[in-house]
Amino acid sequence: MPRFDDAFLQELRMRCDIEQIIGAYVPLRRRGRNLVGLCPFHNEKTPSFTVYPENQSYYCFGCGAGGEVINFIRRIENLDYVEAVRFLCDRAGMVMPSDGYDSSMAEKRRRTYEMNREAARFFHDTLLSDAGKVGLDYYKKRGYSKRTITKFGLGYAPNSWNALRDHLRQKGYSYEEQFEANLVQRSVKGDRTNYYDNFRHRVIVPIIDVRGNVVAFGGRVLDDSKPKYVNTSDTLVYKKSLGVFGLNFAKNSKEKSLILVEGYMDAISLHQAGFDNAIACLGTALTSEMAHLLMRYSEEILLCYDADEAGQKATQKAIGIFSSIGAKLRVIRLSGGKDPDEILRTYGPERFRSLIDGASNDIEFKLLKAREGLDLASDDGKLKYLNNASEVLASVNNSIAADIYLSRLSEELGVEKAAIRARMTSIQKRRRQQNKNREFQQIQQSFARTAARAAAQSGGSLKSEKAQKRILTLLYFNPDFYAGVKDTLDESRFTDPACRQIYAVLRQRLEDGGSLDFSALSGELGTEEMSLFVGLCRADEALPGSRQELRDCVAVLEAEAAVHAQRVQAGELDDDAFKALFKPKKK
Ligand code: CTP
Ligand code: MN
Repeated sequence: MPRFDDAFLQELRMRCDIEQIIGAYVPLRRRGRNLVGLCPFHNEKTPSFTVYPENQSYYCFGCGAGGEVINFIRRIENLDYVEAVRFLCDRAGMVMPSDGYDSSMAEKRRRTYEMNREAARFFHDTLLSDAGKVGLDYYKKRGYSKRTITKFGLGYAPNSWNALRDHLRQKGYSYEEQFEANLVQRSVKGDRTNYYDNFRHRVIVPIIDVRGNVVAFGGRVLDDSKPKYVNTSDTLVYKKSLGVFGLNFAKNSKEKSLILVEGYMDAISLHQAGFDNAIACLGTALTSEMAHLLMRYSEEILLCYDADEAGQKATQKAIGIFSSIGAKLRVIRLSGGKDPDEILRTYGPERFRSLIDGASNDIEFKLLKAREGLDLASDDGKLKYLNNASEVLASVNNSIAADIYLSRLSEELGVEKAAIRARMTSIQKRRRQQNKNREFQQIQQSFARTAARAAAQSGGSLKSEKAQKRILTLLYFNPDFYAGVKDTLDESRFTDPACRQIYAVLRQRLEDGGSLDFSALSGELGTEEMSLFVGLCRADEALPGSRQELRDCVAVLEAEAAVHAQRVQAGELDDDAFKALFKPKKK
């Protein structure tokens, strides 16, 4: 793990106030000494994401993500530790220390980028060679110009098990490296390991990130066989759920909006037709993390998924996610074709332009959906529409917008505004209660999961688990207590692996006289451990404690260890540990 010196991290922390940094990604509201907002790492409707300015940390009660500012940037920008430090350094106008950290990870990523670029070049060159004629014909058939092919660096993977593999090997990249980048696959037979190309006889679309790095590939079949696409899975430089195609171009568009479509091919066709703000998301389902990312590059999202049922379902989901984070959104309704690519090919760009102009905002879109199939001339139809529409308006956060639609609805249906508003309010009340219940359940479940995991791993009791955690908190708040337990409290006393790791890091720092600031620990703890530790030390809840309490906790671990030793001797341990897992809970 890389390690910067404490003085440097101290200064970085002072210049990068957590409230400001996180506030740039998540709208925060003050609540007492802390700030709260909607968690960017999972979907939620009521805020459980809390920022503690006091000790410069954050913690989400819903999903358990927690840490300090460097760790937040790691997660939200999908960077490794050193890159996150560099990111904050740049922002704070500080100079990165040139030594004092281990750069092997950064070096590995750099090589992966280079290797990907080399692969992209290979696929592109192959496309333009004799072997690539089938690929080129395919693109021509789809109407892609030479210019488009060059602009996107489109390629073709030859029908071979080893063409790319051997090419990259010859350029100095080992099979193992190629495997880690998901460019080749691996099969093991006996003691023989075989490596072979992942992309074969497919047209290739390279995915390039906003910094211009080739991070992944999509490979499409040339006919109707299955699977239609082979895509790079998660690697050191690529997280599929955050993958966006075309953002490297779209981010420079004059348009302030982004057109979000389903497929690579749709995005490429849109660019060719002059819509240079088109992008495609590559993750299976849109997440709020992804939505946050897109919002940083645009003021408005124009959602344009396929017209089929799957596309429409995905649209509903996406509307929910974008509106929950307060994004401006309009929905393009396709007519005359199943996807943007087909519409462009059948009718040309003007048609698509007019679809954009006619795009309804998300509220209008939902209201249209709410009246589908209803006969508004009948009382029954009217009532159903009113109920559906009230459900829609109950989710509108902007009260002025809600009022405008309320007025329209009241006029359209000839029903008093006050009556519709009353219905809306009661729906909102019901939902708030439901959300509260749901989130409470989630938190309970997540506690139960942690406890079960700990019990499974340690075969130990919940009491010991609590004691281990409490010891960590006590040491964090009272580093001077350490002297009293240093001789008796050994790492091996910690049966929970995460607690053990945290203790090892704390101990090392206490021995060296280093700082226990979260920002100092961030380089040595993984995100999981960091989340756990910050959760334990939450500024508003953790009690600083006493030396006696620390001694009591240590005694619990000692008793536990003694019992453990006895059981191992009696040869009964495994059996009991197993049973303990399935013991019915006592009230
Ligand atoms: N996709 C995938 N694997 C599949 C099918 C789809 O990864 N087996 C992803 C791809 O990112 C694809 C997107 O889902 O671009 C949309 O799928 P689809 O509409 O089927 O593909 P298009 O790219 O639109 O291709 P085409 O226009 O040739 O249908
Ligand atoms: Mn498609």
